[in-house]
Parts: sequence; C-alpha cells; structure tokens
Amino acid sequence: MSTTPLLTVQQHILEEQRRHYPHASGEFSWLLSGITLAAKMVESRVRRAGLSDILGTAGQTNIQGETVQKLDVYANQALLYCLGKRGNVAVMASEEDAEPIVVERDRSHGRYVVVFDPLDGSSNIDVNVSVGTIFSILRRDPDDGGTRDPLKDVLQPGHKQVAAGYTVYGSSTMLVYTAGHGVHGFTLDPSIGAFLISHPDITMPPSGSIYSVNEANADSFPEGYRDFLARLRSGGTGRVYSSRYIGSLVADFHRTLLKGGIFLYPPTRQHPGGKLRLMYEANPIAFLAEQAQGKATDGTRRILDIVPEGLHQRTPLIVGSAEEVEMLLGLMR
Ligand code: AHG
Ligand code: MN
Ligand code: MN
Repeated sequence: MSTTPLLTVQQHILEEQRRHYPHASGEFSWLLSGITLAAKMVESRVRRAGLSDILGTAGQTNIQGETVQKLDVYANQALLYCLGKRGNVAVMASEEDAEPIVVERDRSHGRYVVVFDPLDGSSNIDVNVSVGTIFSILRRDPDDGGTRDPLKDVLQPGHKQVAAGYTVYGSSTMLVYTAGHGVHGFTLDPSIGAFLISHPDITMPPSGSIYSVNEANADSFPEGYRDFLARLRSGGTGRVYSSRYIGSLVADFHRTLLKGGIFLYPPTRQHPGGKLRLMYEANPIAFLAEQAQGKATDGTRRILDIVPEGLHQRTPLIVGSAEEVEMLLGLMR
C-alpha cells in the first residue's frame, strides 16, 4: 500500500475551503459532490459502453444541429439529476439544452449557476477513445433587481467563475478542478469508488514540444495561424515539435496541461467564429489553464475577458504553455 495519505476530492475541497474561506458554509463542497457523483455514474456507463445498449446515436440532433449520442443524453440527465437535488444550485445550463433550466427561484437559497458539457468528444465514444465532462460554476448575482431571466444569471464572463474542471474518462478516470487556488487532479480508484489525489498543484510547463490542432482544416486558417504552424514545423524555434490530436477537447487539454505545448482550434471555413463553445468549453478550460500558469486566448482577447452574448456562442480557442501562446500572438499582431 502506498504511504501517501488517502485524500479524497471531497476532503480536499473541504480543506481548501477551510484554508481560504474559514467562514464558508460548506455548501459549495456539497455542490461539487453532485458533480463527482454524476461523473461516477457516467464513468460506469462509459466503461461498459460496448456491452450495454449505449453505443450509437439517440436519433436526434441538439441545439447545435449535431447528432446526439445515447451517452450524451445519459450524461446530461445524470448531471441535471445530481445537481438539481443539491438545493443550492439556482440555474443549470448544458450543451444539450437550448435554454437554461431554473431549479431554485429563491435567490437566498440558489446561490450557484452550473454550466456544463456533459459529454465532450462524443464522436469518439464508439471507437473507445477518451471522452470527458466539463463544468463551470458561477455565483448567481444575489441582488440583480429581481430579474426573472435565467440567461442573465448564466451569461457572465469567464473571470467570474468560482470553480471549473473536467473529468476525463481515459485509461484511468481523472477529475481535475480549480476553485481559484491552483489546479488539482484526482484519479478514480475503482476498487473503492473514490477520487484520490494523484496530481496536487498542477502547473503547466512554460513551454512544450507538442502542438495539437485539426490540421485537415489548415488551408482555411487565417494567415497568422498558418505561419505559426509552419514555424513550429521548421525547427526554427530551436525545438523539435510533435503533433497530437485526439478530437476530444478534454483529452487534448489534459495532455497539454501535464506536458505543455499548445492546443488550438482556430477560425475555419466551416466555423468562421471558431467551433468550440465559450461557456462550457473555452471558459472552464481557460480558467484551469491560467490557474496552472498557462494562457488562453481567442487570438486577440483573453478568453476569460469575453463578455458572452449567448449560451451556445462559439469562439476560437488557443490554450497552452505561455511561450507557445505568446509566440502565436506575436505572429498574429
Ligand atoms: P462535443 O463532443 O462536446 O460536441 O465536443 C467536440 C469538440 C471538442 O471536444 C473537440 O476539441 C472538437 O469538437 C473536435 O472537432 P473536430 O472534429 O472538428 O476536430
Ligand atoms: Mn465538447
Ligand atoms: Mn458534448
């Protein structure tokens, strides 16, 4: 047995709270435990995906016009159910639902807003490649003059997030989160069903040797991006780069977080405003990246400064080690 003390994600969150907010009520950790419960429910389905009738499409398209997989539906329901019962979640918003869902109208009870991508990388499910869940937690404005519009509760810039994270259902299942005091990673021990600390205080290397992009779109990237990629390939930077692209943002970002380098989804012919979604993909990933000493931009602005206009709005996303992100921004200017 390992000599490191067993520290579950639940204990970790409570300890962090005691350290940074000694007077906190503990309801925030109660909320996060809803996410970890949903994550365990999803992971058990993912692990048995080829054995139960869960592979394949659900026969419908979502608000983005994308094919919905059965696991997208299951993961969405698991999160809505686990979070909806917590009592302190006011509003939930999901990639899979056109509009935000109000759970608690009373502002003195429902203090939090949770936005999520229940299953990220769903095109990879049927081929047994890593998928994940991404979440972003915001505080509901307690005194915004009695507005009844839940969309207003949701549409806050990323720098207002109080916590964010993801689970990645990979060769092991990991949960990575930040509550604004660094980034911490936990690995699910399936034998006891608990997420145990495995990666405390993650920092992204200041530079790295991997770039991650869907290069099939490269001909339609704006010029600065093409110059940047050519420069990485040329060896002119003094580094030899490798390329890796999984096609699940969670998995591509997880590798970037641990190994450094850069992930980019630039504007393309098909998606001139970028493909990835601001509220439940770019914002939580950007918060994690910055908390780990990395950077995240849309090519001109810090992701966390973007003032959102729509729940499902898209953005270009460039995220990774400070050095590679700065190099790209230099070429774009
Ligand atoms: P989702 O499965 O939640 O719709 O997200 C898919 C996203 C993201 O995970 C990934 O980075 C990107 O789509 C891949 O897009 P391409 O297939 O266009 O490269
Ligand atoms: Mn996604
Ligand atoms: Mn998704």
